[in-house]
Amino acid sequence: MRILDIGCGNRTYLRVAAEANPQVNGLGFEVNEKVAQETKQNLEEWGMNDKMRVIVRDIQNPSADPGGEFDLIGLYNVIYYFEVEERLLLFPRLRSMLSDCGLFGSHNECAVGREGFILGKLESSDKFHGGL
Ligand SMILES: C[S@@+](CC[C@H](N)C(=O)[O-])C[C@H]1O[C@@H](n2cnc3c(N)ncnc32)[C@H](O)[C@@H]1O
Repeated sequence: MRILDIGCGNRTYLRVAAEANPQVNGLGFEVNEKVAQETKQNLEEWGMNDKMRVIVRDIQNPSADPGGEFDLIGLYNVIYYFEVEERLLLFPRLRSMLSDCGLFGSHNECAVGREGFILGKLESSDKFHGGL
């Protein structure tokens, strides 16, 4: 199973995934170099840097697409960094990076609690345009 965690931050969800499933291999994209460095150190501390890695990448840059397919793409607490127009460009690209049975997950934590958890198969990118 291959996972992409976009905007992984330094407490990346890759850790949770690796703990839940030892078969998982993961890649984190993080635009902030300092944060990416902290994440690398954390993965090493957690003993996960053989299966999980983080690279400094801006997901908004299409030349950043890593190639291959992912079984899960996560965008957790990141969508609000992007304008609506940017999201409309991003979702079809993410869909093209998913395997046939791949899943896309996104959630956003709000001051009043957690809301907006969305998990679904990206059968149609249109489905998601209205959702976010
Ligand atoms: C609020 S944090 C969320 C971190 C983590 N996903 C979580 O939920 O704990 C958002 C992260 O996304 C990163 N980020 C923002 N825009 C990005 C982009 N275009 N490409 C990659 N990472 C981005 C930020 O640097 C930040 O570390």
